[in-house]
Amino acid sequence: MPQLLMNDNRAGTPDPLIDAFGRRIDHLRMSVTSACDLKCIYCRPNARSVYGKPNLDLNDGQRIEFVRYLYDHHGLSHLRLTGGEPLLYPPLPRLIESIRAACPELSLAVTTNGRRLSRVAQSLRSAGLDRLNLSLDSLNADCYQKITGGRLSDVLESLRVASEAGFPSPKINTVVLRGLNDAEVQNMARWAIAHGSEIRFLEAMPIGPAGPFNRARFVSAFDIRRQLSASFELTPIPSSPGATASRFRATSGGLQGIIGTIAPVTEPFCSSCRRIRLTADGKLFPCLLGNFHVDVRSAWRDGHLDRESLGEQIQNAAESKQQRGTVQTVQMIQLGG
Ligand code: 5AD
Repeated sequence: MPQLLMNDNRAGTPDPLIDAFGRRIDHLRMSVTSACDLKCIYCRPNARSVYGKPNLDLNDGQRIEFVRYLYDHHGLSHLRLTGGEPLLYPPLPRLIESIRAACPELSLAVTTNGRRLSRVAQSLRSAGLDRLNLSLDSLNADCYQKITGGRLSDVLESLRVASEAGFPSPKINTVVLRGLNDAEVQNMARWAIAHGSEIRFLEAMPIGPAGPFNRARFVSAFDIRRQLSASFELTPIPSSPGATASRFRATSGGLQGIIGTIAPVTEPFCSSCRRIRLTADGKLFPCLLGNFHVDVRSAWRDGHLDRESLGEQIQNAAESKQQRGTVQTVQMIQLGG
């Protein structure tokens, strides 16, 4: 179908979605499942903690309509698909293909634990996925197993296959935990740089049931950078709009790359936040660190989208975005990081 006809319900020039504090919201994190095949101690210390109820989840038709609405009406620029673990959702490549077709200019990424990536990397790439973010908390197999319950070799194999499939080197996310992986920071940074990846060390957020554990094991971004400074020269890089990480050019002998720290606890980046989050079951959260949300499922009646109603719900979420994060009692596994 010619582009003009496909776009005949576009609202002309997109109208930016601006919250009450003047922040433009053009990044969406959309969870496609709250199931996960790891049990990372900073997320789900009690492996029995419940997932959502998949029968209440949005279907992909609704997800595509939602993304398309934001893209057409509000100039959505970035979409990140998350979980749980998004690769546990079998129709993911097809969903990506449809979103890519509907939103050709959208930057499309997936955050994954990498466990199953080697099996689907090629189909994700062929579907039009631009980038991957990989969670990797240790390069020591025992420590990796202790933190996540998974096998390090699966992730390393996935990295190799993703590169063969044509993906650029993924960004690596590492949650730093005292007494577990904090002594590995320099080594992981060297390894990531040698692999052409940008590694970002994250402060553990006290969210959901892992709150007390994460407080007890907390390592600040300041401490992480202090450790890195022992073997790297770190030069700050100006951050781009909506960025969560403080980024540094890191040099050490002949090695040169980019390292980041993400410090939601000690250096919150709320003032530059451009994100909203949609859970697998259709709850739109304007802030990761706030329990307020709207339920967008009610915008569909008998399978048909009421655009006006969806538009009102999105406005409501944007207007309710708090100035700064406070507390989150919902689990990360549902909010998708
Ligand atoms: N604090 C910081 N990062 C977290 N993640 C999950 N839970 C937490 C937490 N409590 C990160 C994971 C993954 C991304 C989806 O979110 O490491 O990279």
